[in-house]
Amino acid sequence: MGLDLQQWKLIMTRYQIAIEELKSDLNIIDMDWKIRLGYSPIEHLKVRVKSIESIQKKLQKKSLDETVDNITTKLHDIAGARIVTNFEGDVYLILQHLQHRDDYRIMKVKDYIQKPKPSGYRSVHVLAEIEVVLHERVVWIPVEIQIRTLSMDFWAATEHKLQYKYQNGSIPQQAIDALKQTALVATQLDSEMSVIRQQIVSHEQNKEA
Ligand code: GTP
Ligand code: MG
Repeated sequence: MGLDLQQWKLIMTRYQIAIEELKSDLNIIDMDWKIRLGYSPIEHLKVRVKSIESIQKKLQKKSLDETVDNITTKLHDIAGARIVTNFEGDVYLILQHLQHRDDYRIMKVKDYIQKPKPSGYRSVHVLAEIEVVLHERVVWIPVEIQIRTLSMDFWAATEHKLQYKYQNGSIPQQAIDALKQTALVATQLDSEMSVIRQQIVSHEQNKEA
């Protein structure tokens, strides 16, 4: 049972293509933003396609059979991208940009900045279908896009490492509480950086006036 090699190749190639499309789209707007605004809200971009092994694990976790239909309709994070910004406001600038594109269909937005997860995790998650033009047809491929600041990214990456790499059994409540506290520090850092940016922008505007 399960997919044969040819079916896996077809599926994985599709998601790889979607990632290539997304990388190219973001490189283009990054260049355009730099030229027109003098700066780009994109600090960096990280992409990945889930391995066949992790797709199989996820199917098992969700008690789904290994079928093309289940993989392409029930799993939404096979292709993943993380857009990292310097400022919190830039997260929403990028979200708005994606929402206004005709070649992206926004299926779902989860705003964990407005409403952080109980762990303290903050980020905006966008499930989007990306239009890809193939040889004889046009397809729409789902990609999970996480948008967050450097500070949120630092917190999430480090918390993830602590949860998964240093865990023997469950992590102590004291550590959970302490991690949540560090998430507040990260939030504070984001808001102070935004205030400083605003001060600099106002200063520039006053000089020009
Ligand atoms: P999944 O079934 O795991 O995709 O969960 P979900 O459907 O509830 O999606 P969710 O919006 O929670 O996003 C899951 C992804 O967000 C994870 O793969 C992580 O990358 C990230 N994430 C969510 N919560 C946390 C957290 O508490 N800590 C860290 N470090 N990352 C998180
Ligand atoms: Mg495109």
